[in-house]
Amino acid sequence: MVLQAKDIRKSFGDNDILRGISLEVERGELISIIGPSGCGKSTFLRCLNFLEHPDAGDVRIEDVGLTSPRHWHRRDEAQAHRLRAHVGMVFQSFNLFPHRSVLENVMMAPVHVKKMDHEAARRIACELLKKVGLAAVKDRYPDRLSGGQKQRAAIARALAMRPSVMLYDEPTSALDPELSEEVLSVMRALDEEGMTQLVVTHDMRFARAASDRVLYLEEGKIVESGDPDVMFANPREARTRRFLRTLLS
Ligand SMILES: Nc1ncnc2c1ncn2[C@@H]1O[C@H](COP(=O)(O)OP(=O)(O)O)[C@@H](O)[C@H]1O
Ligand SMILES: [Mg+2]
Repeated sequence: MVLQAKDIRKSFGDNDILRGISLEVERGELISIIGPSGCGKSTFLRCLNFLEHPDAGDVRIEDVGLTSPRHWHRRDEAQAHRLRAHVGMVFQSFNLFPHRSVLENVMMAPVHVKKMDHEAARRIACELLKKVGLAAVKDRYPDRLSGGQKQRAAIARALAMRPSVMLYDEPTSALDPELSEEVLSVMRALDEEGMTQLVVTHDMRFARAASDRVLYLEEGKIVESGDPDVMFANPREARTRRFLRTLLS
């Protein structure tokens, strides 16, 4: 098992957003997380790497465990830092550095965080950019890229830190269908290489065709999880069925 989350809880004020989510992820799995807007999907992803501090719960990724502390101390922050080192995160809005070329965007974390030497970082970045199909535009600035290219650059940048797990928060929601496809095909290729990936997505076709497992979230809980073909063809829970039906109508 590469990732384990136990009973993750999170409230904002009086709103209980995550009401106890537990999840175990095997290495190489591709898991799609679906559910209505506002049900806590983004918050859950952010809690997995402590970008958001859960109010309660444990997260373990590889050999790094962290229990959400009642009071946050410097040693907890250090542990969160170790946890995040195993995680690559990709957002809907790309979040590339605008004043850096694509290549520099990908090299930046290895050079500044890992203190990798420039040449080594450059070699790795070039390899990754080739893998995501961006070798030809590596010297461009982000504003000269299409949305699909920006998102693939963001994936390469996350991969440059050699994460064990990739988390994607609606990676294709801002993209036209054909540009989405470029991004999804990179994710499929990573899956074939054995990368572990968790994807919050509204793309039900991708969720069904590419995932090993689908989680359906509603009101901060996992309502149903399982094999995508089973869940989409014949959901167990009435709430899942209702959600899938509203998407189709
Ligand atoms: N930092 C925050 N402060 C207050 N409320 C928040 C914050 N982040 C998220 N929320 C609320 O938590 C709920 C779940 O949000 P989110 O996890 O983004 O849902 P989803 O990604 O499933 O659409 C929403 O009602 C949202 O308004
Ligand atoms: Mg969200």
